[in-house]
Amino acid sequence: MEQTTKKNGFASGIGFVLAAAGSAVGLGNLWGFPYKTSANGGAAFVLVYILCVLFMGSIAMISEIFIGKRAQSNTVTAYKKIKKKMGWIGLLVIAVPTIIVCYYTVLGGWTLRFAVNSFQGANGLSNATSFVSFTADPIVPVVFTVLFMALAALIIMAGVKNGIEKYSKILMPALFIILVGIVIFSLTLGPGTESGLAFFLQPDFSELGFDGVVAAMGQAFFSLSLGMGTMIAYGSYTGKEIKLGKSAMMICIFDTLVALLAGLAMFPAISALMGEEFLLGLGAGASGPGLIYVVLPQVFSAMGGVGQFVSFAFFAMVVIAALTSVISIMEVSVQFIIQRFKTNRKKTTLIVASVCSLVSIPIAWSVGGAFDGGLNLFGYDFLTFLDEIANTLLMPLGAFGACLGVGWFIDKKLTANPMKTLRSLREEGVELGVFMKIYAVMVKFITPILILFVMLSGIVGKVGENGPSYWWIVGAGVLIVAFLVLAYFKFFYKTDCGENADEEKLEKTKA
Ligand code: PHE
Repeated sequence: MEQTTKKNGFASGIGFVLAAAGSAVGLGNLWGFPYKTSANGGAAFVLVYILCVLFMGSIAMISEIFIGKRAQSNTVTAYKKIKKKMGWIGLLVIAVPTIIVCYYTVLGGWTLRFAVNSFQGANGLSNATSFVSFTADPIVPVVFTVLFMALAALIIMAGVKNGIEKYSKILMPALFIILVGIVIFSLTLGPGTESGLAFFLQPDFSELGFDGVVAAMGQAFFSLSLGMGTMIAYGSYTGKEIKLGKSAMMICIFDTLVALLAGLAMFPAISALMGEEFLLGLGAGASGPGLIYVVLPQVFSAMGGVGQFVSFAFFAMVVIAALTSVISIMEVSVQFIIQRFKTNRKKTTLIVASVCSLVSIPIAWSVGGAFDGGLNLFGYDFLTFLDEIANTLLMPLGAFGACLGVGWFIDKKLTANPMKTLRSLREEGVELGVFMKIYAVMVKFITPILILFVMLSGIVGKVGENGPSYWWIVGAGVLIVAFLVLAYFKFFYKTDCGENADEEKLEKTKA
């Protein structure tokens, strides 16, 4: 068993931590977090975000890695091993990331284009108009999306140890060094940086509404790659050598640190070079993509000649972050298909990447506004539509499932007594030292209730904010879940869905 893990899985504990951190650190940290901070009033949002990581994120993180490590298998088998009827959650956390891949690569493609573009004269894309015309082009964004997907596919094809782990070990430190460099540069831009710092670090709760709290939770799950099977899949490639609690904490801390550093890199530079009025809500009228694709390029050109280099460093860093995330998102379905259908890794990756690329094309057109914005669903562009389904509904559901599974169903006796859970967790080899009791109570009661509460109030709030059209998003989410439940009980409930050792057997027979 131990040898099996070693052969196909991560070669070392630090390799696992870096790969998982690579999954966690992505567009969510470098773009979503600063953007949401800006939209929700600054430092107060940051504080709530950190609380979400502590009380929900870290608990779900331990649970998911544990579920994977315990099962040594894909997510469907992993949930089946907790309780057979829970297997559909394993399917849910394969479907959600696969949806996410399709739009995440579009954004990754944009980033690639911006990195390449950094040296093109005076920042060829440095204003809103050129951004709009670039994204509205029917060809160029698609080319970059497919290019980005191809990079990710190549890494996955090389395998867990020789691909995912190897590249994470190089790329994550590189990312961190670039980020620290940009933070230092940004903090030394002189007068005007203080107001950016104050916005980011001195909480003012008057700007934070309950929708901000909901946004913070969604952001925490997304940023930590939770509720989407990735941590289960990566956890399954670890063995006894990994310290569960310590690894989970390191991943959470690293991910949060990168998000905070991204804020430190951006807000002082924005206030110094663009003006204070750009801090809150990024100035009037800026939308989601505004931050890194419109405002930052303007910041870079305000830096003069050196701006080209800073721009390149920044976008190269975002490409790295997005790449190590996208490989983890795809690995979930690749792992399942290999194990369930006994296909080989290269072929499977090729198929998954091709299908996702095809789906990403209309998404790129829709979000970029090609064809005069004609491609939308109930008034939402495809990306927003899918992103809302994933973020508001399915991801919290996945994280809820993980806590429920560990907290209630691994313990066969189904008791509400956390101390019994504690004992069964110990028997399962979970060792968290002094945090053991806290974890047992959190995973059983507090975290699932918090997740449900924030999820339901999130839906209500979003409907209020966006009007009845939001029910289409909720309805689509419910349909997806219903479909997956049916599919699970029809096709996978009675079938053996395989485990990690199967990939190895496949390789051996081939050799
Ligand atoms: N955590 C990644 C980010 O912050 C995104 C991601 C989501 C990765 C889901 C894996 C699974 O961008």
